[in-house]
Amino acid sequence: MPTLSSRYLGLDLAHPVIASASPLSASFDGMRRLEDAGAAGVVMASLYEEQVRFEDTRYATMTEYVAGSNAEAATYFPELPDYRHGASGHIETLRRAADALDIPVIASLNGISDDGWLDLAVELEQAGAAALELNICLVPTDFRITGADIEQRYLDIVRHVKSRIALPVSVKLPPFFAALGNLVEKLQAAGADGVVLFNSIPRTEIDLDAFGVARSAALSSAGDIHLPLLWTTLLSGCVRLSLAAGGGVDGHADVARLLLAGADVVATTSALLRHGPAHLTALVEGLDGWLAENGFQSVAEIRGRLDAAHCGRPDMSMHSEYARARMLADFAFLDSARTAGS
Ligand SMILES: Cc1cc2nc3c(=O)[nH]c(=O)nc-3n(C[C@H](O)[C@H](O)[C@H](O)COP(=O)(O)O)c2cc1C
Repeated sequence: MPTLSSRYLGLDLAHPVIASASPLSASFDGMRRLEDAGAAGVVMASLYEEQVRFEDTRYATMTEYVAGSNAEAATYFPELPDYRHGASGHIETLRRAADALDIPVIASLNGISDDGWLDLAVELEQAGAAALELNICLVPTDFRITGADIEQRYLDIVRHVKSRIALPVSVKLPPFFAALGNLVEKLQAAGADGVVLFNSIPRTEIDLDAFGVARSAALSSAGDIHLPLLWTTLLSGCVRLSLAAGGGVDGHADVARLLLAGADVVATTSALLRHGPAHLTALVEGLDGWLAENGFQSVAEIRGRLDAAHCGRPDMSMHSEYARARMLADFAFLDSARTAGS
C-alpha cells in the first residue's frame, strides 16, 4: 500500500488532503465531522476583521455592515445554529477543537487593515492553533492604490504577525497579481512559511429582476483548477515555503494532478459542500488506488514530478504551448467553417 504521509507548514499529516476554511469548519461539530470523515487537517472558518470590530453585536447588524466594506466577508458568514459570533466565541470554538481533535486545526484570520485585529493572532496561537492562515482579501476600489501598495500591505501584515507569534504562518492568495512568483519570494523573505493557491473571489452578479448587484461565495467548478495548477507547477521547486493548492478540486484525479504539480497539500471546500464531508474518503482512497495502479510507493514519489523545474524553461515553453494551442484552435475553426460551407 502506498504511503500517503505528508508534511505541510512543518506539520506531519496522515495524507495530503485537508479541508479548507468554509461553513463546514465554522463550528466544533463541523470540524469534528471533517476529522471523522478523514481530513488530514482542517482550516477553521476565518475570523474576520469585521467580527472583531463588532464583537458581540448581532449577526444581522454585522453582515449588513460588512456588505459594503469587504466583498468577501459579505457572503462568508455561515448560518449555523452552533456558531458563536464575535472573536471570543470564535476563539473558544478553536480552543475546544484544538483540544479534542487529533488532526491539526489551522486558524484563519481574514482582514485588510494593518492595525489591531492582527493581534488576535496571539490569541489564536494561545487557543491551540497548529498554524495560522492569513486571508487578505483586498479589492482596491480606490484607484490611487497601486499594485506595489497592495503587495506592501501583504508584506507588512506577514511581518507584523510573524513578530508576534511563533506559529507557522501561511498566506492565502488570490490569483490576480501581476507577478505572483516575485510576491511569493518576497513573502518567503518576510517570514511566511507557506502560501495557499488560491483563494476564491466572491462572484459579482447583476440580478435583472431585483435590479441590484449581489456578491456570492459561489462554489468552484472543475475548470477553476487551471490557475492553481499553473502556479503550483511554476512555484514548486523554486521556493522553500510550503504550498497548499486548491480551487476546483472535485475528484481524486484532481488531487493527484495538484500533487504532481508540486503541492504539499490539497485543500478542498466546494467538493465537500457539494457531496458532503464523506467525500474526503473518496478523495483519499481514490488517490491511494491511483498511486497503487501506477506503481508509486508514496505521495512523496509523485510530488512535483510534473512541475516546471522538471519540465524545462517555463517562460519559453509556456509561450510556445500557448501559441500552439491558439493555432490549433484556429485551424480547427477554419476547418469546420470550410466543411460547413462545402
Ligand atoms: C461558502 C464558502 C465559505 C468560505 N469561507 C471561507 C473562509 O471563512 N475563509 C477563507 O479563507 N476561505 C473561505 N472560503 C474559500 C475556501 O476555503 C476555498 O479556498 C475556495 O472555496 C476554493 O476551493 P474549492 O474550489 O475547493 O471550493 C469559502 C468558500 C465558500 C464556498
